[in-house]
Amino acid sequence: MGQTKYALITGASAGLGACFAQQLAQRGWSLILIARRTDRLQQLAQQLQHQHNIDAQIITADLAQADAAQKIYQHCQTQQWSVAMLVNNAGYGLPGDFDEPSWPQHQAQLNVMLNSLVELTYLFYPAMKKARYGRIIQVASLAGLAPPTAGHTLYAPMKSFVIKFAHSLHLEGKDFGVHVSALCPGFTYTEFHDANGTRHRMNKLSKSLWMSADEVVAEGIAAVEANKAVKINGWRNQLIALMTRLLPDKIIRALFQKNINKYRKRSNES
Ligand SMILES: NC(=O)c1ccc[n+]([C@@H]2O[C@H](COP(=O)([O-])OP(=O)(O)OC[C@H]3O[C@@H](n4cnc5c(N)ncnc54)[C@H](OP(=O)(O)O)[C@@H]3O)[C@@H](O)[C@H]2O)c1
Repeated sequence: MGQTKYALITGASAGLGACFAQQLAQRGWSLILIARRTDRLQQLAQQLQHQHNIDAQIITADLAQADAAQKIYQHCQTQQWSVAMLVNNAGYGLPGDFDEPSWPQHQAQLNVMLNSLVELTYLFYPAMKKARYGRIIQVASLAGLAPPTAGHTLYAPMKSFVIKFAHSLHLEGKDFGVHVSALCPGFTYTEFHDANGTRHRMNKLSKSLWMSADEVVAEGIAAVEANKAVKINGWRNQLIALMTRLLPDKIIRALFQKNINKYRKRSNES
């Protein structure tokens, strides 16, 4: 019998990450679930093991810590868990203008959403390449393709980086059976906007702009299986991305300023 292949998911205690765990377990993947909230991870792991007859392991980790990725990798090595799929999903928004959060808050967000994502990829990619099989989903955002906005200053630039990084690695991995995709959801029903205290603003957005976590994740898994470099979720978000590419900068920026900026929290707003 071959070695069990694991899908490692960061940010698996809620939202898209928990949904990735559900859908991958349904497809027979064993799981390594990562986040800070151990109780949630334990509950999810027990439920999925029971429902789908898979192995589900948990690692409690704060990805804001500089050594988190290395510790996760070492633990997987020690346990001989062979990671064939990596879903770098953990992330959150930091409202306000650039000078409002403290430097440690910025640094923590950069560690969670950039450094740990790149380092986990760096650590787990070589074994996938050697095995000539691997799946990597880098959860980015439509924000990474859209014009810049004031407020939540580092979020969109980080997501742009994630998209470009995924695309570059996609080009390298395809010769070795390693599929790498950037997933770009728009507004999605998860705990994201509760976690950053902007739910009341987001509730003003048209419901037609929102997607369910289930839809986003199903499209993400299909995209990485098809080895699509960049997957934008839903036709409305695809249209926004297309307009961003085709319309003159001045017009698309003005459109964004008028609409999306209403939902970005600035420092002087409630
Ligand atoms: N929801 C949207 O509208 C939307 C749109 C585009 C892109 N995205 C992206 O989708 C990804 C998932 O977000 P979501 O919408 O599912 O949000 P969510 O429901 O709030 O889930 C966020 C996950 O990230 C984990 N996390 C946060 N900080 C962490 C840390 N320091 N260390 C380890 N884990 C941490 C949380 O776990 P713990 O708190 O237990 O640690 C949680 O499991 C993010 O990268 C986000 O940028 C979301």
